[in-house]
Amino acid sequence: MIVLGIETSCDETAAAVVAVDRTILSNEILSQFEEHRPYGGVVPEIAARAHLEYLNAVIIKALKIANVSFQDLSGIGVTGGPGLIGGVTVGVMTAKAIADVHKLPFLAINHLEGHALSARLSHGVTFPYLLLLVSGGHCQLLIARELGQYEKLGGTIDDAIGEAFDKTAKLLDLGYPGGPAIESAAKTGNPQSLTLPRPLSGRPGCDFSFSGLKTAVRNSVVKLGKNKLSSDEAADIAASFQCAVADVLKDRCTNAFKEFTKAFPEIRPVLVAAGGVASNLYLRDSLREVCTMHKADLIAPPPILCTDNAAMIAWAALEHLQNGEKTNLNFSPRPRWPLEEGKSYSANL
Ligand code: KG4
Ligand code: ZN
Repeated sequence: MIVLGIETSCDETAAAVVAVDRTILSNEILSQFEEHRPYGGVVPEIAARAHLEYLNAVIIKALKIANVSFQDLSGIGVTGGPGLIGGVTVGVMTAKAIADVHKLPFLAINHLEGHALSARLSHGVTFPYLLLLVSGGHCQLLIARELGQYEKLGGTIDDAIGEAFDKTAKLLDLGYPGGPAIESAAKTGNPQSLTLPRPLSGRPGCDFSFSGLKTAVRNSVVKLGKNKLSSDEAADIAASFQCAVADVLKDRCTNAFKEFTKAFPEIRPVLVAAGGVASNLYLRDSLREVCTMHKADLIAPPPILCTDNAAMIAWAALEHLQNGEKTNLNFSPRPRWPLEEGKSYSANL
């Protein structure tokens, strides 16, 4: 079984071919950083137009590298949402056309489920597991009970975690995309240089809040009273911010472990960290610490499968296809699509 995956929900135009034995035959990703850099963030209209311009070539390249043709495929999976609707529409329409012409099963995949299952592709993780989904638009803790069954333990009540990284990077003039810029600047900074809040820490539950932390960083920058920060100052603030985020994640995961153990007392917990922010190595080290404390294992896919990619979409489609599922071709792209809502294929069937 071989599946082609397409991902166009944000600023990566991506196509990948994945086989049932978890081999990634190709994983093409064209990032639109240059298109969006002048604006310091993703501009939806520009993203949609760029997907339209590049997607065909990216798909052809993914098939070529995988050394397969459309006839060799068992199905085609595409991000059906959530995401920027223009980009999602470009991907969905392309996938529908290919599926229709080549008489292939079509699977509209929830982008978040792609992230959620990425550790099954990279590490063959078995259900159930605890899932920390940390990306540009999301920050959630869930129990992945089985394929299509995701129980949300908590989520952000204001900003998403990646958004907090991106806005902080912008404030510190570290450039775009912000997450990797903060991680890199923080390497030479002192994480204790600023006293920053750890929002919701010590409170019950698994919700997150990042807006207070963002404001505290802004106030610290204003207090310095400078037009331009020195690279040492920016590094110290980046390190302090990243350390605060790590503490928040550790605190929230501690509560999530309790929930997991209540649900599955006999099972040694596995914490899967997925999504773009999970590619941050400093945060991974912190999560590893909290896992050790709770006799749990941390599994994080390689960074290339954490940030947006089409291999995770192909894999999620493959898992649903193996389950005998497919999506009706009348599927409409979904700008919002909560993961806990259920199976990827369930919309518009
Ligand atoms: O999963 P993803 O590629 O796209 C979404 O589905 O949102 O996540 C993108 C987010 C961006 O906010 C980016 O700044 C953040 O992930 N990110 C990171 C790192 N690499 C990407 N955040 C912190 N550290 C990183 N190394
Ligand atoms: Zn994503």
